[in-house]
Amino acid sequence: MSKVPSTVPRRLGVPEVRARKGDTPIVVLTAYTAPIAKIVDQHADIILVGDSLGMVIYGMENTLGVTMDMMINHGKAVSSMTKNALIVVDMPFGSFEESKEVAFRNAVRLMAEGGANAVKIEGGRDVAPTIDFLTQRGIPVMAHVGLMPQRVQAMGGFRAQGKDEASANEILKDALAVQEAGAFSVVIEGVMEPVGRKITEELDIPTIGIGASAACDGQVLVIDDILGIFDEFKPKFVKRYANLNKDINAAIEDFCSEVRSGAFPADEHLFGTKSTAKKDAS
Ligand code: KIV
Repeated sequence: MSKVPSTVPRRLGVPEVRARKGDTPIVVLTAYTAPIAKIVDQHADIILVGDSLGMVIYGMENTLGVTMDMMINHGKAVSSMTKNALIVVDMPFGSFEESKEVAFRNAVRLMAEGGANAVKIEGGRDVAPTIDFLTQRGIPVMAHVGLMPQRVQAMGGFRAQGKDEASANEILKDALAVQEAGAFSVVIEGVMEPVGRKITEELDIPTIGIGASAACDGQVLVIDDILGIFDEFKPKFVKRYANLNKDINAAIEDFCSEVRSGAFPADEHLFGTKSTAKKDAS
């Protein structure tokens, strides 16, 4: 049997991400579709198929209506067009809270059907036993503490967390608990900067910040936010690196006006016209 040549690129693995603690920053971006994932795959270390797709792709008000089928379908699309980045797929609201067994079955579906290399679970001490159950059974878990969008109703909106010492301590305890349970990394979302910094110092696993701290071991943002496509609102922690909304608008406006004026389609876009007859035949 021939060995796989060492030059064949392979995906970044969970142990390699784990080993990046305190090393070069880990770059994480979301992607939900195959063509965008293919581009992100050339640059980022981790692609997160986040349940933010509920808001970004499906126009939902929050992530609560996201289903397992959505996550599996988008996970499949993303994993099929990528070969370098580690693919992490979010466990949607309602897919892991009921019991460890239900969480296990759904995590297995995300890996077996959705192409996930690892799953992400929102929660702290409350989900630690579930994280322990999954990791003991070979499912790599990225945890998610601080602002947890799946708890938006309970939290009364998307608000920064850890504003006083007591709540900052609760978030630290959550982060320590998910590490203890076996998570290979943890997303820290929407917390006061010193909280993100302190958690990063205290933990042995990499922290991935989003509105957390520049001291985190990596950073994550939503792809439609950095590209300037999603313009419903802009959280403080988002930086736009492009304004594709404007470019898409301009392209669509040009197409509509050319169809209305008769400028499109031109001969070169048609078969069997005088100017293209030669090309059509070859
Ligand atoms: O769903 C998502 O995209 C996320 C990131 C914003 C961390 O959880």
